[in-house]
Amino acid sequence: MRKLRVTVLGPVRAWNGQVEIDLGPARRRALFAMLAANANRPVTRAELIRALWGESAPSTAAGNIYTYVSGLRRSLGPAGGMLRSGRAGYTLRLEPGALDADRFEALCEAAVAPAAAGRPGQAVALLDEALALWQGEAYANVTGLFADLDRHRLTELRIAAAERRARLVLTGGGDDALIADLAALVRDHPLHEPFHELLMCALHRAGRGAEALDVFHAARRVLVGELGVEPGPALRELQSRILAEPAPPAPAVPVTPAAVVAPDVPRRGRLVGRDGELALLRGLLDALGEGRSAIVWIEGEPGIGKSALLDAALHEARALGHRVARGSAEELSSRIPLHVMRRALHLEDAPHDDPARAVDRVLGHVRRLTAEGPLVLAVDHLQWADEASLLAWERLAALTRWLPLLLVATARPEPGRRDLARLRRGVGTRDGHLIRLTPLPPSDIEQIFGRTVGVPPGATLRSLAPLAAGNPLYARELVTGLVAEDGVRVVDGLAEVNARADEMPRSLLDTVRASLDHLSSGAREALRYAALLGDAFAVAEVAAVTGRTPFDLMADLEEAVAADVLVDAGSELAFRQPVLRRALAAGIPAALRPTLHRHAAQALADNGGPAARVAEHLLAGPPEVDEWLVGWLVAHGAELSRQAPEPARELLRRALASHRLPQAARATLAALLDGPDR
Ligand SMILES: Nc1ncnc2c1ncn2[C@@H]1O[C@H](COP(=O)(O)OP(=O)(O)OP(=O)(O)O)[C@@H](O)[C@H]1O
Ligand SMILES: [Mg+2]
Repeated sequence: MRKLRVTVLGPVRAWNGQVEIDLGPARRRALFAMLAANANRPVTRAELIRALWGESAPSTAAGNIYTYVSGLRRSLGPAGGMLRSGRAGYTLRLEPGALDADRFEALCEAAVAPAAAGRPGQAVALLDEALALWQGEAYANVTGLFADLDRHRLTELRIAAAERRARLVLTGGGDDALIADLAALVRDHPLHEPFHELLMCALHRAGRGAEALDVFHAARRVLVGELGVEPGPALRELQSRILAEPAPPAPAVPVTPAAVVAPDVPRRGRLVGRDGELALLRGLLDALGEGRSAIVWIEGEPGIGKSALLDAALHEARALGHRVARGSAEELSSRIPLHVMRRALHLEDAPHDDPARAVDRVLGHVRRLTAEGPLVLAVDHLQWADEASLLAWERLAALTRWLPLLLVATARPEPGRRDLARLRRGVGTRDGHLIRLTPLPPSDIEQIFGRTVGVPPGATLRSLAPLAAGNPLYARELVTGLVAEDGVRVVDGLAEVNARADEMPRSLLDTVRASLDHLSSGAREALRYAALLGDAFAVAEVAAVTGRTPFDLMADLEEAVAADVLVDAGSELAFRQPVLRRALAAGIPAALRPTLHRHAAQALADNGGPAARVAEHLLAGPPEVDEWLVGWLVAHGAELSRQAPEPARELLRRALASHRLPQAARATLAALLDGPDR
């Protein structure tokens, strides 16, 4: 019999050998998950009913359990014999290690001994293997009491494993990726104090004391704000220690080419699409093997897949035996000179002297490395790199033709940034390759949907593809959000959703909004109000709803254009992605919206805006009919009836139904409603 294999650290899935088993609709899958988690021991019907329905089981529950079990047996096919029923209940037989959660716990357990025996490297490797088993939230596609409880338990174990790993790495002196890993853990688990503590330690160790203190203050804000408690003694003690003592001096380690080892880039699943881009990069890697160098600039909006493409290429670079140095600039570290370059090249311990000399040292180091063989030097998120790193990148670009070097950068387009624009132009003038990542086609987005849920998407889920606007990050967030909100069920082996295309899950809204975090608060505020106005809008309208002058708004709107959030659309501005607009508009309290529309209508009318547009705002405004509205309808009703007959009729009807309509206006408006031609 082929082996039955089950995963619960992510969506619940099962395989017979290599063949995936269709676990059927949500409750059947939940029942299977319960049996798998209790493998090799009988689970009673009463336990199953409680697990699936909690205290509110319907009277048909026992019959349903029977139906689910026989359905499961059928789908298990050759492994059907593994599901037995007896007097004591149902038993699913699984071999040791067949359930990913068991493997996870065993690996965590196995890491204890080497850690205690002073072999942190071995312990970290085991914990890495354990953590890599996770494919998302545990029981991501299962609801019910049992799944909720076990998800909670497993999440605690995952957090504990991540914490142990970070402590071990830190004890061993920290590594290149630790700060970024910890920053992500802090973001995902803001209330877990040990992550804040570890991040502070790691930053302090790296000589980044000021940032460590920033972390303390951010942690305090979250803890006070969310829980109403002050940071615990461990965090406070660490803060006092950092305040009291200077950062440890960087040890004087000689810099040798051997210091560049391939940093572990997290292996991600295979990319969906991007075949052309990967083929181009593969060609360049092959050429590098023959000593031919090149420069590549990968750009595109947040979440479009720049880092994913870079990592896929670096993975291949290593497979080809090239040496790889990869640094990733962080938003917070842009003020530290040469930060990302030092990290990429493992030169953190080199002295911090005057920037020009430090840049020379980086170049010298790259020369030495390339003298030994081809090198791929990649800087992810170049838009966040410090000035000296940008300078180093530019000088390396100029050197590239003399060295066996593939120089790669990824950057968000920020046309307001002259320094970035210059580097980007330099790529062109040196026959480099500009890869602009455009939105993925809907079929690719559907594939990402499928991978994220773990089941191919059905028609209802596929119909949401336009919401992702071709952006893989949005696609993933959309689905993760729906799963978290219990909006996904599996019907005939396909993932279907209850959500409608006009309702965006919270997680997607948050992600889309977060993609605007790099804008100034003024620009974000202006955009939020602009979003209320529609996919396209006039500056005067934004002025009306914000109460600011068009002159005052200009800088903020220009910033949004430079960031590619807005585009010029003739006399108006438009959101480049409707999904952005919708996410932003959802951030305005519903109670405020009618009043804001009304302001916009009046401002637009005062500026001689098109009558049809004024009418749109009036219709979205409060239903009351006042003097201004009547006056405007008398003056512009005829024009509006020609431009937009239906909205015109609706507004005229509203006005005529109001007892506040003056007699003189009534006749005019009634005539307009009847129509001149009728
Ligand atoms: N082609 C793809 N196929 C499958 N998943 C992808 C693809 N491209 C990106 N992703 C996934 O989408 C998410 C966002 O991608 P990524 O982080 O590479 O975006 P980015 O362009 O680097 O964004 P940022 O500007 O924020 O750095 C990641 O989870 C990534 O794994
Ligand atoms: Mg990125």
